[in-house]
Amino acid sequence: MKVATHNLRCTECGAVISGDAVNSIFRCPTCNGLYDVIYPWSANAAVPAGGQEANLPNPSALRWLWQERRTSTMAVDQSGVWRFRDLLPIVSDPESVTTLREGNTPLYELPRCAKAVGIDWLLAKHQGMNPTGSFKDTGMTAALSVAVDRKFEWVACASTGNTSAAMAAYAARAGLRSLVFIPDGKIAWGKLSQAMDYGALTIQLKTDFDGCVRILTDLVTRFPIYLLNSVNPYRLEGQKTPAFEMLEQLDWQVPEHIVVPGGNLANAAALGKGFNELHHLGMIQRVPKISIIQAMGANPLYRWFIDSNRIMKPVVADTRATAIRIGNPASWRKSAAVIEKMGGWCEQVSEQEIALAKAQIGAEGIGCEPASAVTFAGLKKLVAQGRVTPEERVVLILTGHTLKDSQYTIDYHRGELLTDAEKAQISPADQAQHAALRKPPIVLEADSDVVLHALESHMKLTQPV
Ligand code: F0G
Repeated sequence: MKVATHNLRCTECGAVISGDAVNSIFRCPTCNGLYDVIYPWSANAAVPAGGQEANLPNPSALRWLWQERRTSTMAVDQSGVWRFRDLLPIVSDPESVTTLREGNTPLYELPRCAKAVGIDWLLAKHQGMNPTGSFKDTGMTAALSVAVDRKFEWVACASTGNTSAAMAAYAARAGLRSLVFIPDGKIAWGKLSQAMDYGALTIQLKTDFDGCVRILTDLVTRFPIYLLNSVNPYRLEGQKTPAFEMLEQLDWQVPEHIVVPGGNLANAAALGKGFNELHHLGMIQRVPKISIIQAMGANPLYRWFIDSNRIMKPVVADTRATAIRIGNPASWRKSAAVIEKMGGWCEQVSEQEIALAKAQIGAEGIGCEPASAVTFAGLKKLVAQGRVTPEERVVLILTGHTLKDSQYTIDYHRGELLTDAEKAQISPADQAQHAALRKPPIVLEADSDVVLHALESHMKLTQPV
């Protein structure tokens, strides 16, 4: 591992500072902007003439090296994040790297979903297949390693659940103490149980996610604690690596379109950064479009996108996709820049549309959590609007594992998820799809005749037409 060779650049005013000069809230003291990590070879590094070229990693050497590391027995090589460490030299001591062998997630084909939406080629990069079951692990390994490097004893985050699970796990591995703020009663139990299992001090605040962020932001200025929310730019350095891994998996053929769920809006920004860096290094000839999908009840970016004045107004968020129940997203400007510079759209989807999309992904044998299913629900709209054409190659980013929120799935299949009013708004075509997909458990007497009879009538009902 090379020594840290990076700076932080304010995404608003452009001020560049060294990595260890950043304040505890990771915001520019001049303009309150968020930072990006930049390297001597970055497009915007502003290094002296000649310096940039001298420091540019060689593309074909990098491809070879990254492939070689897959067969290594070293922990850093087995990590699907640190395998790409040449493009994220953020720790000065290699011993600081804390890994659970994150990344290395599958890229699945979704042929039935592709057919249902009317496109030829649909893939899912399943980030729910990470060690703690969500994409947060890729960012957490990076930022937590920096916390270790900087000798912090405490780390903290505010979370809708997945960040806290990931932080608690990586902190436990590194022997650090972790503090989690979650909204009281508004996170999926699977995620809360993980934070407890990994030994975090968990505080349920009587507020929503945005309220938790407010309290934590205040706290980190008064207590020596390392903030691990996605305002921490090192999180994004880890979260950019699925872009690299996806391209490896596609033999370096760039897909036309990536569809990402939007909550606090760091992930779309991280993936955008990953693709742009590869483009700048000459490893790919173009970048994909990135579209961001939000739940209708937590849609500040969507509102910004359709507002002709492009003004961001926070909302009071509400959706059953609790992972993205966020009304005041910290990284909205970074993600907005991704849409504006790389192309792509922002869409919103209803609770009914999320439920149907999740069931369709589940029926492919893949499964994901509700927040991830917004991608497929949104894709349906983008195709219907002609924004995605049938021959375009699309990759959905599935961010969380289906077991993260099993209550949602059970409620859906039992017909208890949506209210009668919500069900009444579903179109007849979607009603038919819901009916075919819902598989509620059947309760029977323990008698084989009764079971046989039930099976026969079930088969008659579900004969292929
Ligand atoms: N999908 C899942 C499963 C998530 O947990 C999150 C965010 C997102 C999508 C949205 O990603 O915030 O980068 O736009 N979860 C955070 C958390 C906020 O605390 O776990 P984003």
